[in-house]
Amino acid sequence: MAWRRLCLSAWLSLCTAAAAADAEDYARCAACHLDDGTGVPGMFPPLAGHVERFFPSPAGRAYLSRLVAGGANGTVRIGGVRYAGTMPAVVADLSDGEVADLLNELARRFAPSATPSFSAEDVASARRAGPLSGTERVTLRQRALSVSAPR
Ligand code: HEC
Repeated sequence: MAWRRLCLSAWLSLCTAAAAADAEDYARCAACHLDDGTGVPGMFPPLAGHVERFFPSPAGRAYLSRLVAGGANGTVRIGGVRYAGTMPAVVADLSDGEVADLLNELARRFAPSATPSFSAEDVASARRAGPLSGTERVTLRQRALSVSAPR
């Protein structure tokens, strides 16, 4: 039936368009963390094999959404390598829903065992809480990582 084919193809192209938008938004992160999320040792930390640690717990997800929404500043050690750069708030022009999509895209790319479950409300509340200050960041990061095995 023609109409069925039509609906199916309209649906598929909608899905493809949504996926393309997510991939495009991840390009903002890939500028530093690279397409495959491997990062640049000593400059931009890896997301692959690392951000998966933030997805399973509410503390981890809260940390991740505030960090991505507000940017980051400070020193982190990941896989024995020190990173002391500044990460700008590269999603400032995106809506809460678009940032949630981007966080879910991160889960799909780098935390395949996680359920991509960020909502626009999660991002709205991260934005209300504001950018992470230095000490707050250290505390929230420690709390987020303490629920997963150190690496
Ligand atoms: C201009 C370069 C740049 C861009 C663009 C960028 N980052 Fe970063 N990112 C960094 C640097 C440098 C650090 C390490 C410094 C820090 O964490 O304070 C970092 C740290 C992080 C961390 C912290 C990991 C941890 O263990 O605390 C995460 C998660 C992250 N970035 C995700 C993202 C995501 C998602 C995007 C896209 C929305 C993004 N970054 C865009 C440079 C960048």
